[in-house]
Amino acid sequence: MKAAVLGYGTIGSGVVEILEKNSALIERQAGRKVEVKYVLDLREFPGDPVNKYLVHDFDVIANDPEVDVVIETMGGTGAAYTFVKASLLAGKHAVTSNKALVAKYGCELLEIAREKKINFLFEASVGGGIPIIRSMFSALRGTNIKSVTGILNGTTNFMLTKMLKENRDYADVLAEAQALGFAERDPSADVEGFDACRKIAILASVATGKFVDFEDISTRGITDVTKEDMEAAAGLGLSLKLVARYEAMGEKAGAFVCPAALTSQNPLANVNGVVNGVLVDGEESEELLFTGPGAGKLPTASAVVADVVEAVIYSDRTVYGGWTDEKLQVEDISGIRRQYLITGTGAGAYVTEPMTRAEAEAKAAGGRVYPVL
Ligand code: HSE
Repeated sequence: MKAAVLGYGTIGSGVVEILEKNSALIERQAGRKVEVKYVLDLREFPGDPVNKYLVHDFDVIANDPEVDVVIETMGGTGAAYTFVKASLLAGKHAVTSNKALVAKYGCELLEIAREKKINFLFEASVGGGIPIIRSMFSALRGTNIKSVTGILNGTTNFMLTKMLKENRDYADVLAEAQALGFAERDPSADVEGFDACRKIAILASVATGKFVDFEDISTRGITDVTKEDMEAAAGLGLSLKLVARYEAMGEKAGAFVCPAALTSQNPLANVNGVVNGVLVDGEESEELLFTGPGAGKLPTASAVVADVVEAVIYSDRTVYGGWTDEKLQVEDISGIRRQYLITGTGAGAYVTEPMTRAEAEAKAAGGRVYPVL
């Protein structure tokens, strides 16, 4: 099997590295040798061994019948969409780490894959190296998923952890996350919650088999979370985290992304640093916690490579159907009746009796309000 990698950035270079370093292991597991034939990138990489694969024109890949698997690690929804769609239409399996692509065009790309009896796989698009999508598609078959709650953005979790534990400021820890290759090219996607929003939309679509549109999900990021809020929360035994949640609600989906105060009983409370955590509550499976590195070169690339091996093993059929374009109506469940942490009012931080978010906000009058989970 010959593979082409689109984009030689952090993830793409990690994928090439693992495919080469672990080629014997991969051959044994896949039953066939998997070789990189091309790497597409607009840039030059003087002195880098990638030069033996480097091409600048996607048509070289599209028109080469020897290429069976196209691996997209470019990001964005422009050329990435055009190239992945063209690859699938040409009968080539496609694997991606790109949540923006999956969240926006998943319905269409999955439909093409089903029609062509090939695979469009995207394990690395959510939770970095955590095998959450495959687990939900496969290990949780036959289970009714009641809810999925996640810390799904490594950058913000890394930032919040460092700000609290190392007493560092926001801009400083963001710069470190960027230098480590965790942050999105435009880090506002991380700190404004848009990245986590796309990821929970994907997990909700996986859970339901229907289309949960990220544009319908109420999303609030961490830009107004202060170190004082985190310290006040910690003083009350709570951890402030950027949380994304999906809940089954009959014919609807409940969802939100917002900073929340986790009690020490919440299994996600101790998910710190660039680590992600996903808590899947199934009617029959009960609560399952998946945790691991949510970003970073080799962890994310390992998830991409696992998909490549899966595509090679199931090269004659679509292994996971994914979801259809039937759209689920989404309800904002961040404001339901529950306890809220209130900070920044001058009255000291405190947790309310159960009330709606609107009531908590009225009570906070200009302070900040976090749901307690
Ligand atoms: N920027 C993302 C994060 C990368 O920090 O989680 C992984 O999707």
